[in-house]
Amino acid sequence: MDFKLTEEQLRVQQMAREFAEKDLAPGVIERDMNSTFPLDEFNKLGATGIYGLPFDPKVGGQGGSYLSYILAVEEVSKVEASFGIAFSVNTSLFCGSVDLSSASDEIKKKYIAPVAAGKKIGSFALTEPDAGSDAAGQKTVAVQDGDHYIINGSKCFNTNGPFADFTVVYCLTDPALGIKGMAAFIVEKGTPGFRVGKIEDKMGIHSAQVSDMILENVRVPAENMIAKPGEGFKLAMKALDGGRIGVAAQALGIAKGAFRIARDYMLEREQFGKPIAFQQYLQFTMAQLQTEIEAAEGLLYKAAIRKEMGEPYTVPAAMAKLYCSDVAMKVTTQAVQMLGGNGYMREYQVERMMRDAKITQIYEGTNEIQKLVIAGALFRK
Ligand code: CAA
Repeated sequence: MDFKLTEEQLRVQQMAREFAEKDLAPGVIERDMNSTFPLDEFNKLGATGIYGLPFDPKVGGQGGSYLSYILAVEEVSKVEASFGIAFSVNTSLFCGSVDLSSASDEIKKKYIAPVAAGKKIGSFALTEPDAGSDAAGQKTVAVQDGDHYIINGSKCFNTNGPFADFTVVYCLTDPALGIKGMAAFIVEKGTPGFRVGKIEDKMGIHSAQVSDMILENVRVPAENMIAKPGEGFKLAMKALDGGRIGVAAQALGIAKGAFRIARDYMLEREQFGKPIAFQQYLQFTMAQLQTEIEAAEGLLYKAAIRKEMGEPYTVPAAMAKLYCSDVAMKVTTQAVQMLGGNGYMREYQVERMMRDAKITQIYEGTNEIQKLVIAGALFRK
């Protein structure tokens, strides 16, 4: 087994690291305080083509490695986790849904290429007030009207919703069929009746923009149906398998970012006549955390490699998301404790990372759902 990253992976990792330190780090505390998203920086990174890195060039991607993309999400999340989720939703959930769908290459290219080039932004609308963990419980409905569909309903917790140009909307064409009647459509910003609802005020990932999306008699061309009735649920699940690797990368980035701050602080901060890094109790804590970070990294990179090799990755993705998010929560909580009173203050950043880590245990399938997925495979006859 080769544990070395390829030249492409190292190059993308380095580029994302430099971008995060130069372009994201300077304003990250203010954006957290003001709940503002770094849209200019998002467009700047997008211009490198990175959001389309893992997709086929025939649909506008770069034919690169999924792990390269994951390494980039990890790097930006070390500095700004909100940026990491916007990136992951754009690539894994929006482009991933389109790419994995049964849409024609023409439609795939129409919607993936501009997102891959950083000119447009995508989002993913599955969750509804009564369809969270039970994603099959959709109430949004699409009714055919000639060569169009009319969509009515509402979606919630939609990351990138307030500024997305394109949204994949999952909905039912026949409510009586339930999951067997689930389809998916691409809806463009500005389509009459399609609007942004309440913008969420959150515990963490303040700068990420998350909103309700309201659909009132939204008329969408039939060619924008990327999953036919009966195919929608499986498409959402497949896109989420990729998305969960993205959330795991975000979580690992948060853990590594907080660990780095704690380590640097411990070398600087002197108490009882020596840097606190030389208190054995704290050293043992850091040794344990570093070991867990590396174990999380192993699960994450394995899941990404399984995906890029075309092997089944539902369970590796669930394990990576489960473990990386738990490690992120643990490392950030410990980092706040290591920094003592300073850890509780905004300027030291670990309190933000602790708030940001929490959502990684919840979105794109709670960790209880990940255990359901893992256990389901374990006991399948
Ligand atoms: N890939 C392909 N097909 C899959 C699949 C997968 N990963 N998972 C399930 N399926 C298929 C099954 O094989 C089954 O197919 P058949 O009918 O042909 O047998 C079908 O889908 C139904 O499967 P289940 O019976 O397992 O479905 P379920 O209703 O019991 O639900 C679940 C399973 C795992 C609980 C699923 O509902 C789930 O993942 N829930 C969590 C939803 C979620 O992650 N939401 C997050 C939304 S996005 C977000 O967080 C916001 C954001 O912007 C970041």
